[in-house]
Amino acid sequence: MTRSMGYTQSEGLTALRQWVVELQRRVHNPPAMGDPTHPANKDIIITSGSADALCKVLESVLSPGDNVLIENPTFPGPFKVLRPLDCNMIPVNADADGMNPENLRRALSRWSPEDAKNPTSDIPKLLYCVPTCGNPTGSCLTLTRKQEIYKLAQEYDLMILEDDPYYYLQFTEPLVPSFLSLDVDGRVMRLDSFSKVIAPGLRLGFLTGPCPMVQKILYKVMQSTSHPSGISQIFVTSVLKQWGHDGFIARSSELRRLYEDKCQQCLVYLDKHLTGLAEWTKPTGGMFIWIKILGIKDSSDVVAKVYQKGVVFITGSVFHIDSSAPSPFIRLSYILATCKEINKALSILAECLKEEV
Ligand SMILES: Cc1ncc(COP(=O)(O)O)c(C=O)c1O
Repeated sequence: MTRSMGYTQSEGLTALRQWVVELQRRVHNPPAMGDPTHPANKDIIITSGSADALCKVLESVLSPGDNVLIENPTFPGPFKVLRPLDCNMIPVNADADGMNPENLRRALSRWSPEDAKNPTSDIPKLLYCVPTCGNPTGSCLTLTRKQEIYKLAQEYDLMILEDDPYYYLQFTEPLVPSFLSLDVDGRVMRLDSFSKVIAPGLRLGFLTGPCPMVQKILYKVMQSTSHPSGISQIFVTSVLKQWGHDGFIARSSELRRLYEDKCQQCLVYLDKHLTGLAEWTKPTGGMFIWIKILGIKDSSDVVAKVYQKGVVFITGSVFHIDSSAPSPFIRLSYILATCKEINKALSILAECLKEEV
């Protein structure tokens, strides 16, 4: 406690880092981790949540005007960094199995793999994706797709930014291997978060990536946030030490069973209230259901209308690179509301939709 009240290491408290290194080894077993002679050797630092690490990675890798490949639709965090940076976001559309490698190939077809060797080329340097239980879609990239995407990244020399806070919330086991576990070249920067498995208010996560890149981020930390919150780190370290690695994994399993039950109940209420009014796919994990409202071009009015009645959904356009374009989608989160509240909320949404037609 006394140490955590003073300035501490920018890379995070040693005890927490060591715990996390062992977790990454057990869960992802990244190739060449711990081999200082290998270019794919990895380093790990504790971060002030994934959001801060995401911002620092993007700002470290990209310059104004750069092209960058972004899963679409996706978590709007990167938009907030890339718009002011004047980067050109190229959408790579996702479907029920996450980002489609064919769409990535198509997006890259403007360039040839040779362009990656030309420093004046405008070939994208980075691909951003949320591979597991995507926010907003709830879809997971399959291993086959990950392998295809990794191969394309090798061909075009892309860095993959794997933003994976929902990794432990996949409904089916075994968990799909991560990009990190496939990374034989040192081209994956992986963001993990304690927000979805312990608490978001702690503002803690961890970044795993090739040593030179992680070192670059660390310099940014030194001169910005200094280090992640000492108090939060002490708290999390003592909880994790008590649980142990097996305990953490077992607790994550319990959490995902809890979320899956909630999701199942939510799907029953969706069938009851929204059949014929909307379409949705069953999420593969996480916290969200991505719903397409039928017969409308844009969901903003409906979302505003139900908000007046005490129900909050997020409009689909927020998750698209061009957020000014209309979107008939809404994102439902089934975590915080009780089943009774979800039933009521969906009946209110159904009433509003029936009034629209
Ligand atoms: C895909 C994604 N990345 C990052 C974050 C932010 O995570 P953190 O709380 O660790 O900053 C979220 C939060 O909703 C998210 O959905």
